[in-house]
Amino acid sequence: MTLTLRVNGHDHTLAVPADTPLLAVLRNDLALNGPKYGCGLGECGACSVLVDGVVARACVLTAAAVQGREVTTLDGLAVEGRLDPVQQAFIDAQAAQCGYCLNGMIMSVRSLLNHVATPSAAQIRAALEHNLCRCGTHVEILSAAHLAIE
Ligand code: FES
Repeated sequence: MTLTLRVNGHDHTLAVPADTPLLAVLRNDLALNGPKYGCGLGECGACSVLVDGVVARACVLTAAAVQGREVTTLDGLAVEGRLDPVQQAFIDAQAAQCGYCLNGMIMSVRSLLNHVATPSAAQIRAALEHNLCRCGTHVEILSAAHLAIE
């Protein structure tokens, strides 16, 4: 089927099978490598993107399901060369170890801040509780999320 997707402010028309995951289109067709393939089952959060400003898992969403909606990837958060404050906070807090999970962590915090300007510590933990980090850098990740709010 032919799809027109709006990703990071640009329209893309693609011919893909109807059940193609959004993650595959983003990475393979649009060369947007911010979202990562982790579990492929909607469990780890590595593939997270924003759909109309709300975090969503691109491995279990079909590309067809987001037609007519605004998709934002990690690659699209920076504006005119300036990192999003959440991206900058994760760098400043040195929250990465291997870094594979950070796409999901950053997109989840961005989604939270899109809807709650000054979230509580409990709201931050809740926003991140389904994002997995195998390196165990959760303390630094929480520090980065708090830094992003300041
Ligand atoms: Fe999508 Fe794990 S790769 S949730």
